[in-house]
Amino acid sequence: MTSRIYILKSFKTAAWSSSLLGVLLGSQPAAKAVDDGLARTPPMGWNSWNKFGGNINEAIIRQAAEAMATNGMKEAGYAYINIDDCWHGKRDERGFIQADPQRFPSGMKALADYVHVLGLKLGIYSDAGWRTCAGRPGSRGHEYQDALTYAEWGIDYLKYDWCNADNLKAEGAYATMHAALRAAGRPILFSLCEWGSNKPWLWGKNVGHLWRTTGDITPRFAGGGRGLSVLRILDLQKDLRQYAGPGHWNDPDMLEVGNGMSVNEDRAHFSMWCMLAAPLIAGNDLPNMPKTTLDILANKELIAIDQDALGVQGFVYQTNQNVEVWFKPLSNDAWAMCLLNRTNAAQKVSFDWKSEPVDDTLAKREAHFDTTTYAVRNLWSNEDAGSTAKPLDVEVPGHDVLAFRLSK
Ligand code: GLA
Repeated sequence: MTSRIYILKSFKTAAWSSSLLGVLLGSQPAAKAVDDGLARTPPMGWNSWNKFGGNINEAIIRQAAEAMATNGMKEAGYAYINIDDCWHGKRDERGFIQADPQRFPSGMKALADYVHVLGLKLGIYSDAGWRTCAGRPGSRGHEYQDALTYAEWGIDYLKYDWCNADNLKAEGAYATMHAALRAAGRPILFSLCEWGSNKPWLWGKNVGHLWRTTGDITPRFAGGGRGLSVLRILDLQKDLRQYAGPGHWNDPDMLEVGNGMSVNEDRAHFSMWCMLAAPLIAGNDLPNMPKTTLDILANKELIAIDQDALGVQGFVYQTNQNVEVWFKPLSNDAWAMCLLNRTNAAQKVSFDWKSEPVDDTLAKREAHFDTTTYAVRNLWSNEDAGSTAKPLDVEVPGHDVLAFRLSK
């Protein structure tokens, strides 16, 4: 990396085109799956967009990092502090991007150093088009310069958006930035954000570590309106499970936990993202959240479902009265099981394990509760809850879940 950064510095007087820089650095678009050891489990972190939108500055980012490092989230597995849109200033006369000098007066390198000292990683945002969604400079035509700049700053994660990308082909545009990141020589996790428009689940793993599957989430549990509700996004994931796995994940968008839904809804949202093996990127005001929100985000037993080494996305096993029964196979022959109440009213559920064989043909895993008894652990009360020898008779509150781990 040092030598490449040296190249960057030593040629700062020349007018470089990105492609020339790419040729010099000997990079080629990747032909096979990225599988570079990053994101073996779904990435965990925080991103500025859902709470702050474009109104960000270095104090907000630093304070989020300080909160994550000290409130138990880092210990629970959260690692990335991701700056979303509107950090950008102008490009200099040679085309190198600068941070907005008013909002980030200390510069990105200093911010990355600060976040690294806290034991966390720093993410940044750009766009494959001419401009980002909020109108800041995009990376089109500057991909190699931008990747080198990010590497020089010490960036660890890039979310790459798809606004103003007219006449670009998605797979090629993302492959170019992937190649540029490789050439820059620093391990940078690559998050594709083209909203599922070009079926990134079919090609995303060749160029990145995760891909958005839908348009933007909004802090609403159900129903229509502006932005996509939690349940709407959840439903759009159901046919995509075969595309996710260690190193390459479906991304149903960042979390809205703590951004205005009820505690039940936040709990259900978080649980379902864990059942999906989704990236867990918090999107709330970390330094100022109530304990009820932190207790959801830092529930280690739920996080262990999300982060399970098998890396298999869960699936709906059955639906009764708008209560969905989800299963997710886990390592060591264990399973997660989750009851999701999609209605507003509490629902009674009776589930007789012994007459409910589970056959996950994708993961090639079966559970036969008539012949094998599993211990049941309630992941929200964090208590043991008997075994599968007896039927489960429970009530699930409206817009809420009950989540269990089943182990032999
Ligand atoms: C798009 C993305 C969002 C966010 C905004 C920033 O809408 O999908 O997640 O990054 O752009 O402008």
